[in-house]
Amino acid sequence: MTNLVYFSSVSGNTKRFIEKLGRSAARIPLHAREAALHADEPYVLVVPTYGGGDGKGAVPKQVIRFLNDPDNRSKIRGVISAGNTNFGTAFGLAGDIIAEKTGVPHLYRFEVFGTPDDVRAVDDGLDAFWSTQQLQTVSQ
Ligand SMILES: Cc1cc2nc3c(=O)[nH]c(=O)nc-3n(C[C@H](O)[C@H](O)[C@H](O)COP(=O)(O)O)c2cc1C
Repeated sequence: MTNLVYFSSVSGNTKRFIEKLGRSAARIPLHAREAALHADEPYVLVVPTYGGGDGKGAVPKQVIRFLNDPDNRSKIRGVISAGNTNFGTAFGLAGDIIAEKTGVPHLYRFEVFGTPDDVRAVDDGLDAFWSTQQLQTVSQ
């Protein structure tokens, strides 16, 4: 496995961001007929926002299904959201909802497939984030 998990719909914007990041990542399957993803180590989730801004359906149902698995849910450590600023206050809303429901930080939000600055910020941010997580583990 890997400590980065993402979902991307058929439009593939988030997948493109993950490819630019160049880190190994596991994709939550698009179709229910595909084998479910099981997280076997702590991970940060990258999730695009849907729903169109009214708050309903912001978290893709595939991601809800993944997080409904108690074991997957117990391993989430942070969330990064994707979206589009055209949706105003609902920009990256999926990350806010998941952070609230699972009690993890909403680490970053980016638009569509991200700019080079976004890629750099997330790459550096993940390194810093995981080093603090390790420090916490050591001190526990
Ligand atoms: C029907 C639809 C609804 C969307 N609703 C939101 C939204 O509420 N908030 C937001 O930030 N982005 C919204 N978006 C933008 C997507 O999150 C964005 O295009 C994202 O890059 C899609 O990622 P994907 O191609 O990996 O699935 C919406 C896009 C579509 C097509």
